[in-house]
Amino acid sequence: MTRDHREVTTIDPTFFAEAVDVVGANHVLRDADVVAGYTADWTGRFTGTSPAVIRPGSTEEAQALVGLCRRHGVALALQGGNTGLSGGTVPLAGEVVCSLRRLTSLELDTVSGQVSVGAGVVLSDLQAAAEAAGWAYGVDFASRGSATLGGSVATNAGGMRVLRYGDTRAQLLGLTAVLGTGHVVSHMGGLIKDNTGYFLPGILCGSEGTLGLVTAARLRLVPRAPERVVALLAFGEVAGAIEAASTLRRQLRTLSAAELFLQPGMDLVRAHTGQAAPFGGPHGAYLLVEASDDRDPTADLSLAVDSLPGVAAVAVAADPLRAAELWRYREGHTDAINHHGTPHKLDVSLPPAVLADFVGRVPGVVESVSSGAEVWLFGHAADGNVHVNVTGIAPDDDAVDDAVFKLAAAMGGSVSAEHGIGTAKRRWLHLNRTEDEVAAFGVLKAALDPDGVLNPSVLLGG
Ligand code: MLT
Ligand code: ZN
Repeated sequence: MTRDHREVTTIDPTFFAEAVDVVGANHVLRDADVVAGYTADWTGRFTGTSPAVIRPGSTEEAQALVGLCRRHGVALALQGGNTGLSGGTVPLAGEVVCSLRRLTSLELDTVSGQVSVGAGVVLSDLQAAAEAAGWAYGVDFASRGSATLGGSVATNAGGMRVLRYGDTRAQLLGLTAVLGTGHVVSHMGGLIKDNTGYFLPGILCGSEGTLGLVTAARLRLVPRAPERVVALLAFGEVAGAIEAASTLRRQLRTLSAAELFLQPGMDLVRAHTGQAAPFGGPHGAYLLVEASDDRDPTADLSLAVDSLPGVAAVAVAADPLRAAELWRYREGHTDAINHHGTPHKLDVSLPPAVLADFVGRVPGVVESVSSGAEVWLFGHAADGNVHVNVTGIAPDDDAVDDAVFKLAAAMGGSVSAEHGIGTAKRRWLHLNRTEDEVAAFGVLKAALDPDGVLNPSVLLGG
């Protein structure tokens, strides 16, 4: 269990009475058992405490709540689906939790191929709505059934399709947010060309709720690619799988995912899900690739795969059920690892040229710091993004985190590819950001959240 050491100040009871005036009594939750459901992260590694959960139902209510917080000196921990993996939604310093899940408006503009969504819209609901309207949404990740768009925008979430469509920031045309100053910035017109000064969504996206409370977003949609084929490729070495991902990116226009995992992860997932082995024996590395288009891409994928060197075994699935089974070997990692033990989730990215070397070195580095810890490696091969998950160490023992982050940074990588800094990685921000950059972060924070009411435990101050 990790806790922040800052003192938790007592909140004046009139704060809660005024909060009831703003959002209604049903949306100021103070029952300790109910509140406890909002104070731990999804992995169970980070747990905080909170006196209440407040659930605004509109931007106006969120604005009034921020004003109230400023007057009473109360800090908020912002929360959507609580699927974040860097502890960024946890009230580590006793913050009041502000849940945005009530903001579920969804308005499709099928002509422009855009959508306006409330912060509480769940990713899979947006995906389904876009598909039903003849479009698709370009971002996808395994927690799609509970992750919300507000959190996705605040953390600039990535996922499986970044190689094709980019991250959340690449979909973002505008947003509505309540700044820590109480101002509402709203730019939801969706103009493709609009060079009228600072692009505030670009600053708020990825700021992890430290500058503004995002209540809505304007997102671009992409053309549907309903014909899908999935192939699981086995390799003797990690380097072969990574090289193949790069070749396929070049040669296969319809490539929509290239995901890496290793034999220990495959075994763990199979033990958890009961799935059969895809091939007769074990292999050094697996690459799960998907091609999608409006015409069946099977022939193109097969041709590209046939010309790859070093492929030891292949399973191809165009049938949706079999394709989903192949995907489960990869997507099942997060659940299987969490079931196995509370993980340290070290989401890093490396330059492509050193990714295989990094993957090869990590187990030795972990072993040298914490003998007996278990390492699970998987990720988004084409993005240079590997998820180093470590189990078998205490939640607050961060010696392994330190060693892995320092290795990644020394090899030219980032300590956070797509999960954000949250509370988990604050003390390693300096590995990727210069003193002047962190100072600029501080200037922005002071200007947009002068009283420190928004996510004070996140990103800065580690
Ligand atoms: C994934 O790629 O599956 C997600 O980032 C979740 C995780 O890292 O466990
Ligand atoms: Zn990921």
